[in-house]
Amino acid sequence: MKAIILAGGTGSRLYPLTQISSKQLQAVFDKPMIYYPLTVLIASGINELCIISTPQDLPRYEELLGNGVQWGISIEYRQQNSPKGIAEAFLIAEDYVGTDDVILMLGDNIFSGGDDFPSAVTEFSGGAKVFAYRVKDPQRYGVVEFDKTGTAISIEEKPKQPKSHYAVPGVYIYDNNVIDIAKTIKPSARGELEITDINLEYMRRGDLQVHRLSRGFAWLDAGTSSALHEASSYIEAIERRQGVKIGCPEEAALVRGFLDINRFEALIQQMPTCEYSEYLRIVAREWHDLYE
Ligand code: DAU
Repeated sequence: MKAIILAGGTGSRLYPLTQISSKQLQAVFDKPMIYYPLTVLIASGINELCIISTPQDLPRYEELLGNGVQWGISIEYRQQNSPKGIAEAFLIAEDYVGTDDVILMLGDNIFSGGDDFPSAVTEFSGGAKVFAYRVKDPQRYGVVEFDKTGTAISIEEKPKQPKSHYAVPGVYIYDNNVIDIAKTIKPSARGELEITDINLEYMRRGDLQVHRLSRGFAWLDAGTSSALHEASSYIEAIERRQGVKIGCPEEAALVRGFLDINRFEALIQQMPTCEYSEYLRIVAREWHDLYE
């Protein structure tokens, strides 16, 4: 399965921060925002990724993440000339996806806890899979209603009167039909190719499965200044309490076997002395204790 991280958009709600840097490069506590979705994907066993961003910001992502070889994965880049909608990702990355299944993640969605994504990726067997997360204010999101078997009954984009409390986070798994479906949908009233319209088509085909995320799972978005601040505080609190870091691609690559311990330790050598490298040193020590 290949992955796309969508990291474009104007980031206007974070102005003036986003005047000089893309939203998904802003700090969420101690790391750039994109590290969090990237780490979730690596931890799910994905080692082929494509990052889509704006023509101005793409070079910054390339500078930060390179071609992924340092983590034992591959990263390619594609540009979105203007924010014409989340579903445009499949048109932009059509050549990249080829004949594979694909997982799409929004670069401003932050998750912590559980192994829901790795198991959903492993178990995926066609059609489409979205996730459902109970929230107090579902009208701000895509909202899904589903039956006991996890089959979607309705899905609506930011409904005024939501039919359930379950919001759809920015992670979507599709079989290769998504490319053809993306070619058939039309821009919505707000002029965007909506991801919800892709999901609706899968639902019409009886092929939209819903995976309910467990209560202990945290989903944060970082789209406004307050949400960004809250996400940083949350990550800081968990990291301080547990002594583990959330969103380290190096650690995820080590755990998934994309990096061996020697290359992992070589990476640490190249880092400055800081909390991040100190943490990775602890990870390395624990690795030696466990496996040697
Ligand atoms: O966060 C989950 C929600 O994301 C879902 O529940 C909704 O169904 C889905 O439509 C989306 O809603 P948003 O209103 O949050 O979408 P937004 O336009 O803010 O875009 C989400 C991210 O995707 C944002 O970081 C910017 C990026 N993006 C967006 C568009 C429209 C792009 O890179 N290109 C685009 O064309």
